Amino acid sequence: MIPLTIAVVGATGAVGRQLIEVLEEREFPVRNLRLYASENSVGDFIDFCDEPVAVQALDKDSFIDVDVAFFCATQSVSEEFLPRAKQAGALCVDATAPWIAREAATLVVPEINGASLDRAKHRVLSNPASVTTMLALPLAQLASCVALKKVVITTFESVSGCGIKGVDDLRKQCGELLNGRPAKKGCFPHQMAFNCVPQVGTFGEGRETDHEQRVQMELLHLLGNDRLEVALTAMRVPVFYGDCASLYVEFDQSVDVNCLEQALTDAPGIELLDDASQGEYPMPIDSAGVDDVQVGRLRPANDASTAFQVFVAMDNLRKGTAVNMVQMVEQAWRN
Ligand SMILES: NC(=O)c1ccc[n+]([C@@H]2O[C@H](COP(=O)([O-])OP(=O)(O)OC[C@H]3O[C@@H](n4cnc5c(N)ncnc54)[C@H](OP(=O)(O)O)[C@@H]3O)[C@@H](O)[C@H]2O)c1
Repeated sequence: MIPLTIAVVGATGAVGRQLIEVLEEREFPVRNLRLYASENSVGDFIDFCDEPVAVQALDKDSFIDVDVAFFCATQSVSEEFLPRAKQAGALCVDATAPWIAREAATLVVPEINGASLDRAKHRVLSNPASVTTMLALPLAQLASCVALKKVVITTFESVSGCGIKGVDDLRKQCGELLNGRPAKKGCFPHQMAFNCVPQVGTFGEGRETDHEQRVQMELLHLLGNDRLEVALTAMRVPVFYGDCASLYVEFDQSVDVNCLEQALTDAPGIELLDDASQGEYPMPIDSAGVDDVQVGRLRPANDASTAFQVFVAMDNLRKGTAVNMVQMVEQAWRN
């Protein structure tokens, strides 16, 4: 790959900072790195390859000569600036908005649908919600054994899903409560410390949150199976980093557990951690800093072996966002 000029919008946030680290770790060929954030951060510096890079404010000329623009600020910032970046000829990768809200955007998890990515054709790449990636990767493998019929999912999503503010607010709440003082809700709908909240996203007219609807829609698209029945409840839990989920998976016909295990073992992007007798199974604390989706507790849920239960965990800031976004560009450039 030839060295590229890269723009990171939202460079000072949880996703932006992780993205800069991932570009460095993967030795992504960067000729020039431009970092953008809000006016509050102008004058700050972030290190990249041992060199401090100044954080700037966005303006109409920010994307001139940019090859790839990563959008990880807010949806409204992307709405204003992504069309400008696209117009300037940049390949745009967006983590801020549901793919359905982006006209002509391509939703990508490279291990599932990256093979056909073409940087000339797919100018706007959309990153799925982090938990979509965590669920879609193992489900795609299970579906390669026997067609899926129904999936019932509960996700347990960490507070870093709400960005730096989510992490700060949980830390403050823990401190206040342990010191016998009341905790402020901060960016959460309820006290988050020492609690679990069955709400990620916002409620509209229906009984599901916009986040739950988004994840279900993205799963059907990535799995290429619009007849699959998906029921999902998303929980916010007092964990700083790393998401996890419990899945009940029903197949069209009975399937051998060894076949499922083999499919998961062979798959890129998945690590099977399944020796429950030794206490080996996926947990958010062990997924931190790991790029694979960790899968375990695989077991039949009925005598006919037509249904299974499984547990998964993943670092939401790595494969959930930063790593997936960089992999999309690597793949699009290669193809
Ligand atoms: N966290 C996750 O696990 C996750 C997963 C998937 C998708 N996402 C999405 O990724 C995006 C970033 O999330 P995050 O967790 O990194 O949030 P965050 O920690 O709150 O960071 C937000 C970033 O946006 C910047 N920003 C805010 N207003 C801006 C403006 N007007 N112009 C330019 N930059 C502006 C902030 O700059 P300042 O520091 O200067 O305020 C900061 O760099 C969000 O849209 C989120 O929905 C997050």
